[in-house]
Amino acid sequence: MSIRPAALKREASAAAAGATVRSVIAGCGSYLPERIMTNHDLAKMVDTSDEWIVERTGIRHRHIAAEGENTSHLAVKASERALAAAGMKADVVDLIVLATATPDETFPATATRVQERLGIVRGAAFDVQAVCSGFIYALAVADNFLRLGQADTALVIGAETFSRILDWKDRSTCVLFGDGAGAVVLKAGQGRGLPTDRGVLTTKLHSDGRQHDLLYATGGVSSTRTAGVVRMDGPKVFKHAVERLAEVVEESLAGAGLTSADVDWVVPHQANRRIIDGVGKKLGLPAERVVVTVDHHANTSAASVPLALTEAVGDGRIQRDEVVVMEAMGGGFTWGAAVVRM
Ligand code: UT7
Repeated sequence: MSIRPAALKREASAAAAGATVRSVIAGCGSYLPERIMTNHDLAKMVDTSDEWIVERTGIRHRHIAAEGENTSHLAVKASERALAAAGMKADVVDLIVLATATPDETFPATATRVQERLGIVRGAAFDVQAVCSGFIYALAVADNFLRLGQADTALVIGAETFSRILDWKDRSTCVLFGDGAGAVVLKAGQGRGLPTDRGVLTTKLHSDGRQHDLLYATGGVSSTRTAGVVRMDGPKVFKHAVERLAEVVEESLAGAGLTSADVDWVVPHQANRRIIDGVGKKLGLPAERVVVTVDHHANTSAASVPLALTEAVGDGRIQRDEVVVMEAMGGGFTWGAAVVRM
């Protein structure tokens, strides 16, 4: 990929001024499919109940994509809203990083479908796959492109149609997930140094392939020529999630030269209300500063963090200049966190 002259110029002037190039969140947007599936609907399909699901997960309902409504369709709608919130036209975008474990097709990347539908004819568009941690991974990748001057304006998207890879007869997994998409517009800007500047302050990513069997899909192009369905050892994943997420939040805050006392908002991956509360407690973060959407979104995998971020920005909770920590964990295992000054 060639380095564009504008990016080179910006990098040179930033270096001359001794400034840091930061990736600033210029806008965010989200989209949820129209159809809502309640716990009561699920109780008609598998041996479960609204009481069990609410008590064990905090989930009350989730959105399910319509037939023919694919991951790219959700992603395009979220991206259009993110661009509108940023006050930008699509043609300024020169990088699209889309996180998904449920792409439209085996290839090409769903990001290129989004690029085409948004009318963007330049720059690079590709997918990243880190399941539920996908948005944090995508944010880290885009942030690095922007800070290195390889792009100016990125769309970072988390979009999933997880309903397509659920075993609707397995009550231990099918009640947990939903469909949706969230996107942010990241714009390269110049800061003056920590800690007062806006933008992505740090990202920390991890993976541990030894934990594959605790959370995976039973198929794949190369192994079974099918997409497979989700399998999870819930209690074991739960235990890892609370520990790994608390660790990576602390690591990311330390990387930004901050402590939990500096955090205005936590936007966690929305897998289970009890995990969200457990991590918050471990870090000593006040519950009212943690954004929770799991009750009405369920676990939307890579879409969960940008969906929650968009909700809290949209209703005025998250304000400019506030410090937001995002975290997520998913199959692989993969996990990560990002600290952003909005
Ligand atoms: O996003 C990726 C990361 N994923 C996660 O973070 C998910 C992590 N895990 C969890 O959120 C929780 O472990 C679950 C919500 C998946 C399960 O909750 P749990 O409290 O760990 O329950 P459990 O799996 O230990 O099951 C308790 C009981 C079992 O019955 P017995 O053996 O005690 O008779 C299950 O068979 O609940 C039963 N059960 C259900 N009952 C009604 C499992 N699923 C259901 C269900 N409805 N849907």
